[in-house]
Amino acid sequence: MLSLLRNRLIPIYFSVAVYYVIIPIGFVTKWWLTNEIMAPNGTILVTGGAGYVGSHTVVELLQNNYSVIAIDNLVNCYAEKNQKPESLKRVEQITKKTIVFHDVDIRNRDALDKIFKSHKIDAVIHFAALKAVGESVQIPLAYYQNNIAGSSTLFEVMQSNGVKKVVFSSSATVYGIPQFLPITEEHPTGQNCTNPYGKTKYFVEEILKDVCTSDPEWKAKLAKTHLGFLIT
Ligand SMILES: NC(=O)c1ccc[n+]([C@@H]2O[C@H](COP(=O)([O-])OP(=O)(O)OC[C@H]3O[C@@H](n4cnc5c(N)ncnc54)[C@H](O)[C@@H]3O)[C@@H](O)[C@H]2O)c1
Repeated sequence: MLSLLRNRLIPIYFSVAVYYVIIPIGFVTKWWLTNEIMAPNGTILVTGGAGYVGSHTVVELLQNNYSVIAIDNLVNCYAEKNQKPESLKRVEQITKKTIVFHDVDIRNRDALDKIFKSHKIDAVIHFAALKAVGESVQIPLAYYQNNIAGSSTLFEVMQSNGVKKVVFSSSATVYGIPQFLPITEEHPTGQNCTNPYGKTKYFVEEILKDVCTSDPEWKAKLAKTHLGFLIT
């Protein structure tokens, strides 16, 4: 009897347990790990994604399981005709992941709207801007048009597509000539801004504050970097 149990029944029960219990549990666990715990953290639209800070941010996002859609009008980065910008090709080499790229200007409402309608976008990180302080003094209208009108168009398209989370790459120039050091988040902004570039960043911050006040579903983070350090 004992030998029948050991030689025939236990191996049969064991095989049945493996096939009908252990393997299915394994599949379910794998599915759960892949789809719940290890699920991509969402899809982030990165404007100015081919630029200096944008492309580095794209690396971090991809390495942290986010999907990325990068848009850029190539005004300050290099791309061969009909190809992805060189910076993003290198990001793909580093991360071994694919980036969806659109050569689009943030002032082009229709093109932006198409992108929001053709992808499920969870949030936006907004880097696209002209950013040279000296140049902004020489061609202020180009800066106001690009940075303020562009940002405003982007936020309108986000709103009409129900995407209400944004990180805005602002600048420490919004503090103007510091009233005290070190500069903290309590430091006033928009006073004594010394150049149009800084003013465009200040105005866009104010636009976002007003938008968030008008609709509590909006969540905006104003990131100010200066010399590579994140201030807020
Ligand atoms: N680099 C810094 O130290 C620093 C410091 C503070 C703030 N910032 C801000 O961070 C952001 C990125 O800075 P960066 O140094 O990477 O600059 P960058 O010029 O390398 O990147 C900006 C990207 O935006 C694109 N762009 C500009 N206007 C656009 C438009 N209308 N539509 C679509 N794309 C457009 C450009 O082609 C470029 O690739 C900027 O908003 C800048 O003001 C940068």
